[in-house]
Amino acid sequence: MGLNSDNSFWPDKKVIITGHTGFKGSWLALWLSDLDAKVTGYALDPVTDPNLFSVLDFEKSIIDHRGDIRDLSALERVIKSAKPEIIVHMAAQPLVRESYKDPVGTYATNVMGTVNLMEAARTCDSVRVILVVTSDKCYENEEIEYGYREIDPMGGHDPYSSSKGCAELVTSAFRRSFFEEGSAVAVGSARAGNVIGGGDWAPDRIVPDAMHAFSGKETLKVRNPGAVRPWQHVLEPLSGYMTLCEKMWDQPSEFSEGWNFGPEDESVRTVEEVTIRMSDLWGDHVALEKSNGSHLHEATLLKLNITKAKEKLGWTPKWDLDTALQKTVSWYKSYYNGENMLEMSLKQIEEYRAS
Ligand SMILES: NC(=O)c1ccc[n+]([C@@H]2O[C@H](COP(=O)([O-])OP(=O)(O)OC[C@H]3O[C@@H](n4cnc5c(N)ncnc54)[C@H](O)[C@@H]3O)[C@@H](O)[C@H]2O)c1
Repeated sequence: MGLNSDNSFWPDKKVIITGHTGFKGSWLALWLSDLDAKVTGYALDPVTDPNLFSVLDFEKSIIDHRGDIRDLSALERVIKSAKPEIIVHMAAQPLVRESYKDPVGTYATNVMGTVNLMEAARTCDSVRVILVVTSDKCYENEEIEYGYREIDPMGGHDPYSSSKGCAELVTSAFRRSFFEEGSAVAVGSARAGNVIGGGDWAPDRIVPDAMHAFSGKETLKVRNPGAVRPWQHVLEPLSGYMTLCEKMWDQPSEFSEGWNFGPEDESVRTVEEVTIRMSDLWGDHVALEKSNGSHLHEATLLKLNITKAKEKLGWTPKWDLDTALQKTVSWYKSYYNGENMLEMSLKQIEEYRAS
C-alpha cells in the first residue's frame, strides 16, 4: 500500500522542489531522481558546512536553481521555464530558535514565500499537483495528550510555529480561491513531526548536535530533556509526500486537503530517551549533560494523529524509533569514516522501500 508499488508513477514526471539544498529537500531530490523523475530545485545555497546537498554531490542529477522564495519574479521565471507538473514546496526558515532571533525574516520566508509559490504556480499551465510542506507545529498547541487531527485549529506560540500555521491558511485560501471544485489542479499540505536521519547539520536540533558532539568527543548539552516529540526517520514523511502527490494526481478533488504524517505512538518519546539511545548506538564513551540554562518557549508535548493518512492514503510508518535511530547513527558513522555517502544514502532508500 502507499507508494505506487511498481514504480511506474515517477519516471519522467517534471517536479520542482523548493528547498532542495536542505536536509529533507536533498533526500527527496535524491529519491525522486533515483526513480527517474525530472527534478528541478529552487532554493538558497545550503546554510551549513557540511551539508547533505554537497555531500551527495548533486550537480549532475538535477537542475539546480539558486534563488530566494521571497523574490516572486525570480521564482516565476524558474517555474515558467521548468514547466513542472508537480511542485513540492519545502523552502523555509525551519528552526524555532532562529525564529525568535529573526521573526520578520521567518514570516517573510515561510508565509510570503508560500504566497509567492502559490501565485507562481497558479499562473503556470503545466502544474497539476502542489504540495505545501508545513509542520506538526502548525496546530495551536494545547499541551494535551491526544494527537492533533487535521481538523484542529491552526496556531503557534513562537514565530516559526505560527508562520507554519499561517502557511496552512495561505494554502487553504489559494485552494479555495483559485483551484475550486472540479479544478484539474490539486493543492495539498503536509504536516510532519520531528524528522531525524543522516545529513542534517542544522544547529539546535538534537540529532545533529549529538552527532557533532560524539564525533568530536565533546560533551553533548541536552536542552529540554523532558520535551516529548513524535520522532520519525526523514524517509517516512517523504514517502507520505510522494504517496499524497500520486493520489492528488489521480483524484485532485478527493485528496486536496491537509494531511498528517507522523510516527506511531511508540515513537513519541522524550529528548532524553532519544539522546541516551543515540549514545548507546554510537558506542564510544560519550558524555551527556542536561542543560539548565534559561530556555525560549518550545512546546513540551506534541503528537500527531495519523489515522486519516493510514485510512485514506494507505500510508503507514515503516520504521520504528529504534530503527530510525540505528539508520541515522550508522549514516553519520559512515560519513565520519569517509565512506561514499551517495551509495550509503541510496542504500538506505532501498532498505526503506523494501521494508
Ligand atoms: N526537519 C524537521 O524536523 C522538520 C519538521 C517539520 C517540518 N519541517 C519542514 O520541512 C521543510 C524542510 O526542512 P529541513 O529540515 O530540510 O530544513 P533545511 O534548513 O535543511 O532546508 C531548508 C531549505 O529551504 C531553503 N530556504 C530557506 N530560506 C529560503 C529562501 N528565503 N528562499 C529560498 N530557499 C530558502 C534552504 O536553502 C534549504 O534548501 C521546511 O518547510 C520545514 O519547516 C521540517
